[in-house]
Amino acid sequence: MKKTILIALTLSAFIFACKEDSKEDIKPTDNSGCDTTFVPSYASKVQPILNDFCVGCHSSNNATAGIALDNYNSSKNNSTKLIPAITHPTGLPNNKKMPPGGKLKECDIVTIQRWVNSGFPE
Ligand code: HEC
Repeated sequence: MKKTILIALTLSAFIFACKEDSKEDIKPTDNSGCDTTFVPSYASKVQPILNDFCVGCHSSNNATAGIALDNYNSSKNNSTKLIPAITHPTGLPNNKKMPPGGKLKECDIVTIQRWVNSGFPE
């Protein structure tokens, strides 16, 4: 009987140890579970998101609401409007929530926030 308990204890210790290990294998993340190991430069990380979800309505040729998001300078200069537009803070009117009728993936939002907070790496 004692032996069985010992074996059970040893086994569960093992299982626990494995779980702990696999946690450490995962890349460091912030609270929302997004990969935050990379430098979020405009060219490598931000522009692809804006191209996919925003530039259709916010290009230099067709700057809806005066907002062009197809180049570095304009995206940077509009960042104070851009962040609320994608994070949807309480009280933001629905017509200001972007993209219209939807929301970016949480990790894409985190990437754009990190870009702004890191001083807009180009
Ligand atoms: C289908 C077209 C469309 C797409 C796609 C779109 N927008 Fe907009 N956007 C609009 C329109 C229309 C307005 C004007 C809303 C208003 O003020 O009534 C607007 C306004 C804005 C504004 C100004 C908000 C303010 O405070 O006045 C920002 C910033 C913005 N969009 C960012 C984005 C971002 C970032 C994306 C991509 C995640 C995006 N938009 C995608 C149509 C679009």
